[in-house]
Amino acid sequence: KKKIAIMTSGGDSPGMNAVVRACVRMSLYLGCQPFAVYEGYEGLVQGGDFIKKMEWHDVRGWLSEGGTLIGTARCMAFYERPGRLTAAKNMILNGIDALIICGGDGSLTGADKFRAEWPSLVEELVATGQLTAEQVKPYTHLNIVGLVGSIDNDLSGTDATIGCYSALARICEMVDYIEATASSHSRAFVIEVMGRHCGWLALMAGVATGADFIFIPEKPREDNWKDEMTSVIEKHRKLGKRKTIVIVAEGAQDRHGAKITPNMLKDLLADKNGLALDTRITTLGHVQRGGTAVAYDRMLGTLQGVEAVKAVLEATPDTETCVIAITENQIVRKPLMKAVQDTKEVAKAIDAQEFDRAMDLRDTE
Ligand code: F6P
Repeated sequence: KKKIAIMTSGGDSPGMNAVVRACVRMSLYLGCQPFAVYEGYEGLVQGGDFIKKMEWHDVRGWLSEGGTLIGTARCMAFYERPGRLTAAKNMILNGIDALIICGGDGSLTGADKFRAEWPSLVEELVATGQLTAEQVKPYTHLNIVGLVGSIDNDLSGTDATIGCYSALARICEMVDYIEATASSHSRAFVIEVMGRHCGWLALMAGVATGADFIFIPEKPREDNWKDEMTSVIEKHRKLGKRKTIVIVAEGAQDRHGAKITPNMLKDLLADKNGLALDTRITTLGHVQRGGTAVAYDRMLGTLQGVEAVKAVLEATPDTETCVIAITENQIVRKPLMKAVQDTKEVAKAIDAQEFDRAMDLRDTE
């Protein structure tokens, strides 16, 4: 029986449980034995109870649970070779040589490295007498498949990462709540949203809520951004708008790379010699990441989980590590490292014109 391990790593994201459920059940359906690795890479290094055999009923009800029920951790030991050596040993002792990982680009890059190193790790385990040549014989190669679980939607090559639409829905809901109180007091709110280096959440939330102004890393503001924001908001106020919503991505910056912070924006909006708006800051924080997954993320996690099991069974020593993506509504396999590289080179493509057009649908007349 082929043994397949499933793990979640990095920051949790809504939909990860759908992935684990799908991987477990698809593995069983195909006659394989699935294992869950608890606490991400930490579990691989610890071994023992952290690596648990999974059965069909173990993942019952998981679609409607938020976070990741098998836990996740940022594991320092795995960054060092001795940690990875122990991980390899634990896997071989459990008979596992196929690994499915759902995490962000950092976790997936770590996985690719682990796979490349595998033959030398196995060699070292024998050379140091930790395992016998006989024990390692069936484990000459490690097959790995990645799934992108992140609320940030920050990986190139896929239209959506698992969790991004849940976070977006949560942000929109929160902005709606804030709007009611903002309007009542005729206040301005600066709302900071997550996304790390990526502005997708902020941009889409801005479009979906009709925010007055947004700041994202992919569109660093010109030097006149203060005047630009003030004049847009002034215009909206003159049109009778009683609320002002400014959405700022946590990674927002100006064109010199200086961070644009919620405090800076608040001071500007509240400036007695300027707009003089009664202004509050709301940092949405981890409510964006927690909570249950929207239908889209449950569907994406499930379909991609099914594909991941097929991919890991079809992988050979010569095939590149793949990541499961969604493009134009098709679940597809893509070379993992190319997606990681593209992400570094080009920030996830956000068409500047499209951006301006979307934002110009605000109240302008
Ligand atoms: O990558 C997901 C994310 O939520 C980012 O949006 C955010 O910058 C970061 O993780 C927060 O990390 P932590 O939960 O470790 O504070």
